[in-house]
Amino acid sequence: MTTHTSSKPDLYNQLASQLSSLLAGERDLIANAANFSSLVFHALPDLNWAGFYLAKDDELVLGPFQGQPACVRIKFGQGVCGAGAAKCETVIVPNVHEFPGHIACDSASNSEIVVPLLKTGKLLGVLDLDSPVVARFDAEDARGLENLVSILLSSVSI
Ligand code: SME
Repeated sequence: MTTHTSSKPDLYNQLASQLSSLLAGERDLIANAANFSSLVFHALPDLNWAGFYLAKDDELVLGPFQGQPACVRIKFGQGVCGAGAAKCETVIVPNVHEFPGHIACDSASNSEIVVPLLKTGKLLGVLDLDSPVVARFDAEDARGLENLVSILLSSVSI
């Protein structure tokens, strides 16, 4: 008997089409970010947290997520989320215990990826995924998640 395991790019392609269907017809950021976090949290293996921090004034404020309760406010430049927001680029942290200033919300987290939400040059917030597995995220995850974020951003009217 053979088992079929999807490659990461295949999995992200499937997720992209599921996400497009899920968000079709709705233009509210909070509603679509909430369904995004649920879809990703349940579809991607080895996650303990998946969700959003949204930019408000000079900080990030907790948005829709799946996982344990998390810290509510993060200053730009602080932690992994704040670093992604300040640089406006995806940040992959293979071992959060080696990242200076990492903000520990869930002690189960060992690796993390943060993808900025940039719409017409404006930072709306960040997507944050945490994993209990060290080095869970790589360049394929970055590409796949950046594509999912672009689907979310196209779906909303902001
Ligand atoms: N670890 C993040 C904080 C958010 S939680 O992981 C949900 C950080 O260092 O920014």
